Amino acid sequence: MEVVPLADADEVAALAADVVEAVVRARPDAVLGLATGSTPLPAYGELIRRHRAGTGPSYDAVRCFTLDEYVGLPPGHPESYRATIARELTDPLGILPERVHGPDPAPDALPTAGARYEEAVAAAGGVDVQVLGIGSDGHLAFNEPGSSLASATRIKTLTDETRRDNARFFGSVDEVPRHVLTQGLGTILRARHLLLLATGAGKAAALAAAVEGPLTASCPASVLQLHPHATVLCDAEAAAGLARRAHYREVYEAKPAWQPL
Ligand code: F6R
Repeated sequence: MEVVPLADADEVAALAADVVEAVVRARPDAVLGLATGSTPLPAYGELIRRHRAGTGPSYDAVRCFTLDEYVGLPPGHPESYRATIARELTDPLGILPERVHGPDPAPDALPTAGARYEEAVAAAGGVDVQVLGIGSDGHLAFNEPGSSLASATRIKTLTDETRRDNARFFGSVDEVPRHVLTQGLGTILRARHLLLLATGAGKAAALAAAVEGPLTASCPASVLQLHPHATVLCDAEAAAGLARRAHYREVYEAKPAWQPL
């Protein structure tokens, strides 16, 4: 795992955008794995800014897969992850809606939604770069503590902590759905590159547990330790709990020019 401690959220956004653009330049029909939530928004904003400035790559041929989706929201709800990713990234980049996929939360199709999503990701050839955030309880996608490290896409029940964290997107915590469909930790591990973004003091404890703690289902994000190509971009506040943060910075500053993130 490569941990890159950066000064602030703007630096995290710029470097994350560099990574995503490099993947799309190398492979114009790349498969992008997209997290929602607040953390990736500055990076998505940077990708959009560069696209509008004409300096970004063409996104015409990319395919996108979101990590997760709420269950129980009316179709088209503005806080559904489908609507969110279209608004915050894929529409502004000009990616056609049919090239953007998410787990299907239609009530009558829920029993097969996980397996169908796994098949769709596999049929696309797998995810080239998976953008990730981390929950304050260490969750990854919506794999809450206790999730199997080998799990596949399936329905899950959110913890009260996550529902409280996400209440800011809804009128109140009572409006946050209790159930979600989420890629499993095993699904996420199959992506070729994991790019975890963490900003703010609220992520410091979870990030330290994920990066320097034991590999454990009690901290689902610790599954990154199993991946051969995992990159963590964090700001100073999120890095505050990392015992080896000075060393991670030294490693980054001494990174050979030929070795990309
Ligand atoms: C979102 C997702 C979640 C978030 C996590 C952090 O698709 O999978 O795991 O990444 O809840 O959320 P923010 O970034 O809002 O702090």
